Amino acid sequence: MTFEYAPAPEFRAIVTIKPKYGHFIGGKFVAGSKHFPTINPATEEVLSQIALAGKADVDAAVKAARKAYTNTWSKMSGKERGKYLYRIARIMQERAREFAVLETLDNGKPIRESRDTDIPLAAAHFFYHAGWADKLEYAGLGTSPKPLGVAGQIIPWNFPLLMLAWKVAPALAAGNTVVLKPAESTPLTALLFAEVCQQAELPAGVVNIVTGDGSTGALIVNHPGIDKIAFTGSTEVGKIIARAVAPTNKSVTLELGGKAANIVFDDAPIDETVEGIVNGIFFNQGHVCCAGSRLLLQENVAEEVLHKLKNRMEKIRVGDPMDKNTDVGAINSKEQLAKIIELAAVGDSEGAERWSPACNLPSKGFWFAPTIFTGVTQAHRIAREEIFGPVLSVLTFRTPQEAIEKANNTPFGLSAGIWSEKGSRTLWASQQLRAGVIWANTFNKFDPTSPFGGYKESGWGREGGRHGLAAYLKGVSHE
Ligand code: NAI
Ligand code: MG
Repeated sequence: MTFEYAPAPEFRAIVTIKPKYGHFIGGKFVAGSKHFPTINPATEEVLSQIALAGKADVDAAVKAARKAYTNTWSKMSGKERGKYLYRIARIMQERAREFAVLETLDNGKPIRESRDTDIPLAAAHFFYHAGWADKLEYAGLGTSPKPLGVAGQIIPWNFPLLMLAWKVAPALAAGNTVVLKPAESTPLTALLFAEVCQQAELPAGVVNIVTGDGSTGALIVNHPGIDKIAFTGSTEVGKIIARAVAPTNKSVTLELGGKAANIVFDDAPIDETVEGIVNGIFFNQGHVCCAGSRLLLQENVAEEVLHKLKNRMEKIRVGDPMDKNTDVGAINSKEQLAKIIELAAVGDSEGAERWSPACNLPSKGFWFAPTIFTGVTQAHRIAREEIFGPVLSVLTFRTPQEAIEKANNTPFGLSAGIWSEKGSRTLWASQQLRAGVIWANTFNKFDPTSPFGGYKESGWGREGGRHGLAAYLKGVSHE
């Protein structure tokens, strides 16, 4: 039985978007010189004009961060720093609806996800790290841990506010000040966060936000006044950053791509597993570095799982991200859509079989129907490269050992999923898998207390938990 759903649009007027934004430097909004548009990818409507930071803007932001570090933030007790972090967390909760609507408009993700996942988790990161600020000496990271100084932080467009929280909260808790650059297609929630910093009366210069594209990111990476770079984004840019910081004294953490194996053993609870597969790849349009994008099915249950998966996919609601009943929203940008279309075409030409449920995609904006490819082999590009969209590659295996070999046969190693009813098999498999995060009978679960990060080309260092704090303190190795 299928239900008919009436439209359930979220109320847009809760958020006021200015026609033009500048940068947030030294506690104030300062005008930019050049601007570029940020759009709503679901409608292609221009939402605002965003400043493109050049050398002078980045210099000013680094200078403000250094001044705040030296004069204020590094001198303040952990207890006092913690109060500011709690205040920020509470304001984020109070303004959660505003943040959720803005995130959905600027990014294209469903309001259900920004409301129930992104924004609450972002606030949770501030609450969690507020609790650490006055307890750093008890974290097992040395008796007198010291901050690194000024952190340059560059974040992607898939979880804009959440990635900001992952970066800013531990940096501030550990006593660092920051210069952060949001992604060019999703800068608006970072700019609203700047208002929250003002509202929380955070000392000027502790958080500085400059907007721009890769050229602004490169100015941050190469700035001599920065002590640490924290980056989340593509492996390609991660490599550029690793090369740029190698001859310097800068610390670096990199959170890069993934091609996670989601492994289904024949004793798995099939109905729950199907939900987990859907959540693993179609959550956030598949724009997730740890997405379960390679489904490994044990051969004797493959047919049953695929049959149930296709039935389940028929019920996925693709469309207006502002509608509360939408499951899958818009692809974040025209460029990302082109990349997904290109890799899916490669899947066709390499002989994999494509299937999507029938869905009416809106005529404006950037859309891609949830898709699975069966008959995929290890040699196929769609089994090896990150598609970063709602596309699942399905492979099969006969023995548990074969599943592990296939799962580990990738240059990445960010996450993996195991579906099995046997605890012993789950523990055995998790010990063989070379992935930073392993989920058992669930997928895409995030918590600020849990470290997150990758092996191999998925990155360096960990974010979240006690491990993540280490990446913002002197003399503590991050792995
Ligand atoms: P990207 O890596 O170019 O962008 C991420 C951030 O880095 C943005 O803020 C961007 O302005 C900045 N940036 C770009 N070039 C830079 C440079 N040379 N120096 C410093 N900062 C720089 O990612 P893009 O082009 O948006 O997406 C391309 C692919 O990357 C996606 O298709 C996906 O496969 C992957 N990706 C992975 C993410 C993850 O969470 N692991 C997030 C975003 C993209
Ligand atoms: Mg946008």
